[in-house]
Amino acid sequence: MVIFGVTGDLAFKKLLPAIYDLASRGLLPAGFTLVGYGRRDWDNADFCDYFRSAVEAGARTDFNHDVWEHLSQGIEFVQGSFDDEGFDKLSARLAELDKARGTGSNWAYYLSVPPEFFSDICHQLERVGMANSMEDSWRRVIIEKPFGHDQESARELNEIVNAVFPESAVFRIDHYLGKETVQNILAMRFSNQMFEPLWNSHYVDHVQITMAEDIGIGSRAGYYDGVGAARDIIQNHLLQLLALTAMEEPLSLDAKHLRAEKAKVLEAVQIDDLPNSFALGQYSAGYQGGEHVNGFFDEKDIPADSRTETFAALKVSIANRRWEGTPFYLRAGKRLGRRVTEIAVIFKKSSDRLFGESENPQVGQNAIVIRVQPDEGMTIRFAAKVPGTQMEIRDVNMDFGYGHSFTEESPEAYERLILDVLLGEPPLFPRHEEVELSWKILDPFEEYWEENRIKPEPYESGSWGPRSAHEMLERDNRAWRRP
Ligand code: BG6
Repeated sequence: MVIFGVTGDLAFKKLLPAIYDLASRGLLPAGFTLVGYGRRDWDNADFCDYFRSAVEAGARTDFNHDVWEHLSQGIEFVQGSFDDEGFDKLSARLAELDKARGTGSNWAYYLSVPPEFFSDICHQLERVGMANSMEDSWRRVIIEKPFGHDQESARELNEIVNAVFPESAVFRIDHYLGKETVQNILAMRFSNQMFEPLWNSHYVDHVQITMAEDIGIGSRAGYYDGVGAARDIIQNHLLQLLALTAMEEPLSLDAKHLRAEKAKVLEAVQIDDLPNSFALGQYSAGYQGGEHVNGFFDEKDIPADSRTETFAALKVSIANRRWEGTPFYLRAGKRLGRRVTEIAVIFKKSSDRLFGESENPQVGQNAIVIRVQPDEGMTIRFAAKVPGTQMEIRDVNMDFGYGHSFTEESPEAYERLILDVLLGEPPLFPRHEEVELSWKILDPFEEYWEENRIKPEPYESGSWGPRSAHEMLERDNRAWRRP
């Protein structure tokens, strides 16, 4: 595997630790070799030190000297930029490594770089003859979001990549799909009998998909400003969660069938009343975990007139028979009450005929909550009798927690995804059509915000977002769950 952008944040925090964790679980092929490519004046030893510090800072499994010794024999650094003869050097080095380490000319290129560099890198790889798969070896390219900033730019970006690599060799990362709990959505829905009969608008009142972070934008202003929560999270992670929650049962778990069902449901997503179907926010200073934290405008390099949202909530519907009349509410934000991602399927209220109306209007409104992170598991909420002489009803929770039911800790998303690239397993990678369809859903919102110069509403750090997000649900006589 060759990583371009190996000195970046993603490689340090996620990719290098994940590669070590795969090695430590014995899942990498014996001759696995990692080549870092970058401008720094480094030799192999420098890169090894850097790799090791990334492992020590971020690996999930304990540091093991033998694993490291073995892995570090296959760590190389090639110096060059994205538009020069560095690629000739790279190609010569890979050919040598094929002989020395038996890598069989099977090369995966991880483009952990901003999309404006995709074109140069792909063309260089093509120029030096490194892009085409051979009869008995493969060449694969891994790309990270942002896949453009709207449907049109996503298409252009795709054309750039597809001009060099066939679609079957392109692995687009949406790291949410690598999470165990996200893969469990399909297992839960389709390997059980009891959920599926209820999974439709006859029984489901609405669905809430929440991705809340407690962190702010940190030092990422360069990337984040002008992008915002909707493009950063909703366009990819949350719409993938929506697709998995709402799609029909695929014919098989093959990539072809999975992607086709996801695409079908994304294509059916509609916005019914756009001006009343969103809320945008920007965090202001506040307290989080007892500590005072900065507001968005105090973060480094954020211009005073930035309209970038750090919180976005959207309401959409799905125009098919299963979901007719069941809204899906999506929200994503930084500096919220706590870090949590969950999908809450909220059922219609059951009849009060026998037990009378409870003081709490939500009693009897059952919910199935898929807890994606950090407390991985699932909760079912239902009403039960409070012990005593009265027939008093209260909601209770039934919990499944990964930590209680399984002894093995869930792997990091990137471990699974990197392994799948090496194995040539495409089901967990969105295909271009899904990316475009997701932009097609978001574009009208983004255009409306731009045309109307919508200014996000401030919300206090540590809260659950701006007032307008709550009002959006109140208009529908609903309320956000407090996760
Ligand atoms: C990334 C976003 O895709 O996901 C980040 O660009 C965000 O802004 C991150 O912080 C969150 O990932 P996770 O796995 O911690 O939920």
